[in-house]
Amino acid sequence: MSFLNDLEPLKQTALADLTAAADLAALEKAKGTYLGANGKFTTLMKQLGTLTKEERPAAGKLINQTKVDLENAMAERRAELESKAALPKEPTDFTLPGRRRSFGKLHPLTQVSDDIVRAFRKIGFAVAEGPEIEDEFHCFDALNTPADHPARDVQDTFYLSNSGTNVSSSPGTESGRKPSLLRTHTSSVQIRVMQQQPPPVRIISLGRVFRRDNADATHNPTFHQIEGLYVDKNVTVGDLKGTVEFVFKELMGSDVKVRFRPHYFSYTEPSFEIDFSSSLVKKMGKDWLEIAGCGMVHPKVFENVGYDPEVWSGWAFGFGVERIAMIRYGITDIRLFYENDARFLNQF
Ligand code: DAH
Repeated sequence: MSFLNDLEPLKQTALADLTAAADLAALEKAKGTYLGANGKFTTLMKQLGTLTKEERPAAGKLINQTKVDLENAMAERRAELESKAALPKEPTDFTLPGRRRSFGKLHPLTQVSDDIVRAFRKIGFAVAEGPEIEDEFHCFDALNTPADHPARDVQDTFYLSNSGTNVSSSPGTESGRKPSLLRTHTSSVQIRVMQQQPPPVRIISLGRVFRRDNADATHNPTFHQIEGLYVDKNVTVGDLKGTVEFVFKELMGSDVKVRFRPHYFSYTEPSFEIDFSSSLVKKMGKDWLEIAGCGMVHPKVFENVGYDPEVWSGWAFGFGVERIAMIRYGITDIRLFYENDARFLNQF
């Protein structure tokens, strides 16, 4: 039993060594010294075979317990050393304020668009979508816009070269291709929606439109529009005016006044331009500001999508999102919206 007498002193030295290890490397070294394949403790354990059968169980238990004690001591010291190693090397003031994260913001046009959608949702309008690359049928023909209308001129609209769907009977196109173009207004979505569903219809559609304009303070070749379409039985201009008034009050404040001026659009009859007045408009030194186009859906448009104009009536309108945002925030140059200058965007 002589070697068992060595067990306790060996354990004490080992514990002292492990606890004294100054860093993780020293700890690994101490581990090797005692618990490694040729370590002092391992060597001791190997002598278990020299004991008699009767002596073995008690001795084995003692040895195992010692081993567990050493391993525990080592794990404890390792945890201590590891957390020490994770501490900053330099003296640190933990009371200093943390670094603030700067959050991004929604673009002012997105904010205005969200508000417009929210206002229309309150009165039961759904949001419809349509493609930015359109064909002449949806953008013009179905909207009763004649072939000689200026909007159809290549000087005014971006036609896409080498594109378009192949159609066998496309009048007026030599190649038999139906020309594609970047939509000039969101009114094309009216047609797509009516083609897809029977009346009644109550939708708005919001998106980007394209025109061959030179950029200046009030024009840009691409901007955003909101289209509205309402089709049901016995719809009147009164419904249109009430809706427009409600939405503009939601958007621009309760002092908003709206007036309709007779105008011409080929897809509405009668047609109007909408002017509105408010304290914001007065601030701009004006009494009224033209803001949108609208009217009662032309019977020809209904025929083009297969609705019976004797049964169904409706109104439509379209206005520019940038215009609304410029008035709301007092912005005097439309180009600021597209420059991605954080100094501008951070203000909203
Ligand atoms: N599409 C017209 C534009 O871009 C706006 C418009 C006018 C839309 C009358 C309509 C409407 O739906 O009925 O200027």
